[in-house]
Amino acid sequence: MLWSYLTPRIPKIGYGLGTANYKRGGGPKLDQKIVDNTVTALKIGYNHLDGAECMSPSSVAARHRLIPPRAYGNEQELGEAIKAAKVPRESLFITTKATVAKDKPIEESFSSSLKKLGLDYVDLYLIHNPFWTTEDDEKGLQEKWAEMEAIKASGRARSIGVSNFIRPHLEAVLKTAKTPPAINQIEYHPYLQHGDLLDFHKEHNIAVAAYGPLTAVTKAAPGPVDARYNELSRKYGVTTGEIALRWCVDQGIVAITTSSNEQRRKQLRGVSICLFGAVLENRDECLVPDLRPLPVESFPHKAKH
Ligand SMILES: NC(=O)c1ccc[n+]([C@@H]2O[C@H](COP(=O)([O-])OP(=O)(O)OC[C@H]3O[C@@H](n4cnc5c(N)ncnc54)[C@H](OP(=O)(O)O)[C@@H]3O)[C@@H](O)[C@H]2O)c1
Repeated sequence: MLWSYLTPRIPKIGYGLGTANYKRGGGPKLDQKIVDNTVTALKIGYNHLDGAECMSPSSVAARHRLIPPRAYGNEQELGEAIKAAKVPRESLFITTKATVAKDKPIEESFSSSLKKLGLDYVDLYLIHNPFWTTEDDEKGLQEKWAEMEAIKASGRARSIGVSNFIRPHLEAVLKTAKTPPAINQIEYHPYLQHGDLLDFHKEHNIAVAAYGPLTAVTKAAPGPVDARYNELSRKYGVTTGEIALRWCVDQGIVAITTSSNEQRRKQLRGVSICLFGAVLENRDECLVPDLRPLPVESFPHKAKH
């Protein structure tokens, strides 16, 4: 069972506070637009919110231009939105992520995140990426994972996981983990399927969340899935975006999407409601068999945050 390390179970569609909703310019001043966007998302039914601490411009990843210097930076806005939407905390699934640095305890990041969010606990806490180390730094990865386990043991993170990890990182962590990572959040769409990485997750009971799930119908279009997705979208009367999300969900993968656009956020409501209402004749229809597997692509990913 894929989700067994996750407490509680994770909603299949998440609303992202990165990419389209990141805080431009960073800084402590509240960005009311992000709060309002997030309140709308909560009110239209998103109960799974995917945040992260600010990517510091001095992080290794930013220095190497793997990520823009400022991404997310909006835990305060997420916290304000949760308060403003008046949705009971227990009905929400809140994720945040640590920007890890070798010389900084994760606890420091975590307590600062909780404070900004105004929460006593998060449902899921992730190591945002392994870019602070190398694939063969087993000890470094294991020490950081032990710090994550201590946070889980304190009860302030219901589940712990990782993001952007590839097999060597996971193998290192699994060698010493008392609590294995519950989930790995990775860029995942028909054009980035990571070879046997998914099978490895299944073998080790690690769930997978996909960010960039709309890539095939947005940034990467036109492309080889277009004809099939258009055909399916006509057949079921849904958008190609819904088909793209369904492509993830039908593989047991959580899809983390987002929108900064009012109209699209309303459409997204349609996605979350219709997605599971649409009964496909064949559950694997969206998998586009002739497109699986695609050639393995390598990390680090090039997604825009
Ligand atoms: N762990 C990580 O390292 C990592 C990295 C990247 C992202 N993430 C998480 O995943 C979330 C989603 O990432 P993502 O933005 O890459 O996901 P996505 O769901 O693939 O893309 C969402 C974007 O697609 C655009 N879009 C949707 N429909 C469109 C259409 N028909 N035409 C043109 N554009 C369209 C939206 O634009 P509008 O805003 O204009 O609607 C939005 O910016 C992030 O917010 C973040 O929480 C995590």
